[in-house]
Amino acid sequence: MAFPVVDTEYLKEIDKARRDLRALIALKNCAPIMLRLAWHDAGTYDVSTKTGGPNGSIRNEEELTHGANNGLKIALEFCEEVKAKHPKITYADLFQLAGVVAVEVTGGPTIDFVPGRKDSNICPREGRLPDAKRGAPHLRDIFYRMGLSDKDIVALSGGHTLGRAHPERSGFDGPWTNEPLKFDNSYFVELLKGESEGLLKLPTDKALLEDPEFRKYVELYAKDEDAFFRDYAESHKKLSELGFTPS
Ligand code: HEM
Repeated sequence: MAFPVVDTEYLKEIDKARRDLRALIALKNCAPIMLRLAWHDAGTYDVSTKTGGPNGSIRNEEELTHGANNGLKIALEFCEEVKAKHPKITYADLFQLAGVVAVEVTGGPTIDFVPGRKDSNICPREGRLPDAKRGAPHLRDIFYRMGLSDKDIVALSGGHTLGRAHPERSGFDGPWTNEPLKFDNSYFVELLKGESEGLLKLPTDKALLEDPEFRKYVELYAKDEDAFFRDYAESHKKLSELGFTPS
């Protein structure tokens, strides 16, 4: 499929879609799942073959039914409402815009958004997203394959400041923080505190404490929310642009 032409009209539609997404996310309280959709579309990127990435392919049944994507149909349907009003915007741009807006409206940093991603119908094979039951070496395998760094791994894991796990989707249960609709650094504060009644820590979350290279960022972000917001905004932008060169 071709790149969309990012002219003044396209940019205007992006602005309108941004407003629609803000309203929809506030109305449905769906920031967490919109962020998860954006991440799962982008997180399949393979830097060596230049396949996967934020290309809208997750909208296809073949990819949406991958085990890691359980529950994301809800987010896709919300995005379809916005797509119906702004058909010019590619799915790839729309999903990433939804992720950026989800972070912004819940109190997180402003993430620079550059439009122009093209849609693809080529779905990556299952298994490119991280497995929550594994440890630090697995996280590195997965994120280095995307071309991302240790700092990106820890900063982006802070996305778990939003939302919760659902037993029927992943087998895990509960939120990571006491305010799962607020984007702040509490994911890192809770991680350092250790087990708390009612709060979740995945094996991959705990791996951030056990690995010294990861842990230094956990400690930094727990004590310095500005540092977290700055690094998160940078890493999220990288994630949202994997394999995409803005024209
Ligand atoms: C939810 C795993 C990284 C954002 C989840 C869930 C799992 C998971 C198992 C629960 C799904 C459910 O039951 O509904 C992982 C693993 C990661 C990772 C293993 C590896 C580091 C990320 C990243 C982001 C992110 C990089 C975004 C920047 C979210 C959000 C939710 C979530 C917002 C909550 C969704 C909701 O409330 O419906 N993740 N994740 N995750 N993840 Fe991650």
